[in-house]
Amino acid sequence: MTLRSAQWYAGDARNAYIHRAWMRRGVPGDAFDRPQIAIANTASDLTPCNAHLTEVAASVRNGVLEAGGTPLELPVVSLGETQVRPTAMLWRNMAAMATEEMLRANPVDGVVLLGGCDKTIPSLLMAAASVDLPAVVVPGGPMLTGTFRGVPLGCGTDVWRLSEEVRAGTLSEEAFTRSESSMIRSRGHCNTMGTASTMALVAEALGTVVPGVAGTPAPDSRLLEAAHGTGRLAVEMITADRRPSTFLTRASFTNAIVALAAIGGSTNAVVHLLAIAGRLGIELTLDDFDRIGSSVPVLVDLQPAGRFLMEDFHRAGGLLAVLREVRDLLDPTALTVTGKPLVDSLDDAPIWDPEVIRTRAEPLVAAGGIAVLRGNLAPTGAVVKPAAASPHLLRHRGRAVVFDSIEDFHARIDDPDLDVDADSVLVLRGCGPRGYPGMPEVSNMPLPKKLLEQGVRDMVRVCDGRMSGTAYGTVVLHVTPEAAAGGPLALVRTGDVVSLDVAARRIDVEVPDDELARRAPDPATVAAFADPRRGWERLYVDHVLQADTGADLDFLLGSSGSAVSRESH
Ligand code: FES
Repeated sequence: MTLRSAQWYAGDARNAYIHRAWMRRGVPGDAFDRPQIAIANTASDLTPCNAHLTEVAASVRNGVLEAGGTPLELPVVSLGETQVRPTAMLWRNMAAMATEEMLRANPVDGVVLLGGCDKTIPSLLMAAASVDLPAVVVPGGPMLTGTFRGVPLGCGTDVWRLSEEVRAGTLSEEAFTRSESSMIRSRGHCNTMGTASTMALVAEALGTVVPGVAGTPAPDSRLLEAAHGTGRLAVEMITADRRPSTFLTRASFTNAIVALAAIGGSTNAVVHLLAIAGRLGIELTLDDFDRIGSSVPVLVDLQPAGRFLMEDFHRAGGLLAVLREVRDLLDPTALTVTGKPLVDSLDDAPIWDPEVIRTRAEPLVAAGGIAVLRGNLAPTGAVVKPAAASPHLLRHRGRAVVFDSIEDFHARIDDPDLDVDADSVLVLRGCGPRGYPGMPEVSNMPLPKKLLEQGVRDMVRVCDGRMSGTAYGTVVLHVTPEAAAGGPLALVRTGDVVSLDVAARRIDVEVPDDELARRAPDPATVAAFADPRRGWERLYVDHVLQADTGADLDFLLGSSGSAVSRESH
């Protein structure tokens, strides 16, 4: 087997000398004859959910060395979901592009991908799919469960819940602030079935994680053991030439969609899976999520749809226990990083706690997944997560109350004179990939204070942005085309009647087509759209695709492979 890295290191020529000499620094000469395994590490103090990954990387390093490879830690762009403005999603494609290019530019033969916080695993997988070197993910794992006043706290979900309680006057601001130090109990990512947990589990269902590893809590010593084993596996993957294009197929995405539905996972996974498929040239559409996933039962009783948290999920048997219950819905041909079919991992995967992971006979929700809506408000699609919605609102008509930006929303939502009632439909636009820019998680708009005080806890909301995976409510999101891309969402006016019918998969504004065609967006609406002048934001706005195809950049679709470029000197 000729290693890719040999194109840097082999031979006696001056250039090989240069490549080796600068890497020596005490390293024995035969280290350059071995598989060179990059450890793409998203550890960063500014991504607190991933800060522990340097310790995980040390275990990967030991495994690589033990298997006869040479480990090389590669710090890559990291995105802290709670810290990065205007939204981490703006930078997902940049992180993916930078990682892809650095893997291609460097003398590496394969890569172990260390991610955790929401956008990190998607960006790493997009990069790995495009560069198509042998790649395996070690998810950083969720944090342990914190408690406040004796009650477990779900990261994110309970921030939304407690802040609504403050606004409703049922919790003091002082108690709310005190809960802050209890929210994050340990290292690791959010402990709800939010986007980080979802993407770790979906990555395993895709076959990119060693089966059984995703969901291992970050402080659990078994994570380090798994990281060590994954380091060994990465070397084996080089020998077997097990690249993403050899095991990530349409069947893998079928399994990921089934898993996404069965775990009651985040709607964000829809955008990320579409983007990853786009990098592989696999035809995956929004409708596949509805067709494959919408009849799959939700088996996992985790917040935000249910009660428990990731520590409970792992104790109860984890993803493999869930997948065993829906084995008949999985594609048995899909392979994993081990070279074996995913379904081979399911024979010995019992449910240890049926309260947390339900059996097929007693699901949390009979049919979960993502419903894909269309209509004159979303001609190319929008999504809603019925399991996180209120059943009585899944079919609803109400007068629109329209906001042109999240700032406009915050400025007016608690105005006592705002003409809004429990039947109103809150419409927020300018929050798509182009309009914001970056498609932030603002679609689960807080409810008007005066309605909260009346006991209202959910309303129909419609937005071209995303929603945190930790959020809940009857929220129609990812509306495409977004308002800033000429979508009809830009034409809705306050007072128009909006109708939602999830069973019929419709979202419409009850305005005649000819009148809608006559309308032009209000100048205030257009003024709220982003118009960046320079840098990444300019590039992003000019090239980003809509959410229904994954919100990747148009020039990043497909695989560029790992061909070695011309010499550097
Ligand atoms: Fe990092 Fe939730 S903020 S996973």
